[in-house]
Amino acid sequence: MATLKLAVFASGRGSNLAAILDAIERGELDAQVKVVVSDKPEPGAFEIAHRHQVPTCSLPPGSFQNEAEYIASLLGVLSRHEVDFIALAGYLKMIPAEVVRAYRSRIVNIHPALLPAFGGKGMFGRRVHAAVLEYGCKVTGVTVHLVDESYDTGPPVVQECVPVREDDDAESLAARVLEVEHRIYPRALQLFAEGRVKVEGRRVRVRGAGEF
Ligand code: GRF
Repeated sequence: MATLKLAVFASGRGSNLAAILDAIERGELDAQVKVVVSDKPEPGAFEIAHRHQVPTCSLPPGSFQNEAEYIASLLGVLSRHEVDFIALAGYLKMIPAEVVRAYRSRIVNIHPALLPAFGGKGMFGRRVHAAVLEYGCKVTGVTVHLVDESYDTGPPVVQECVPVREDDDAESLAARVLEVEHRIYPRALQLFAEGRVKVEGRRVRVRGAGEF
């Protein structure tokens, strides 16, 4: 068991960040959020971070001369804050391959559908739930997965189903999925803190997964 030294990456409102911080404060997640990183100047997630006295760092892509400079800044921030694990929570920019390599199997993302369905570039927010309804799915869900070099393709660590109701619209479905996100993201991170996750290629084995 080791306290995760987390960086949470967020582009938007930060409700998953809030769920992580609340779980830490309740003693349910053995982690410390060392820094909240964003590609936006002042996302909602930063307000939440400030409220919890967590440092923030904005790295807007336009403010760097080139990709190499951006990557060096990002790795610098992570190392200065002694981050050993990264949780993406509504972060819209692709994680550079160098960062994925430096934190291999120590970066997770949460996606509001059952991957590999309804994932990939451009599939975020309301669009995901609208596409689920458009397809006529009877279930959707939440996926916490390892991050690799492309969008939403890393192997799942935890997935949970959410039923689609006859009268759902994208908003009602998003709200029901989000409740599950807030419950399972801190728990998924706790599995890593407890050393219960073993990665064997695409198979991510979770010891004692039945109790999850
Ligand atoms: C969540 O639905 C998450 O699954 C997706 O982006 C959204 C972020 O919401 N990756 P929030 O900023 O955590 O409220």
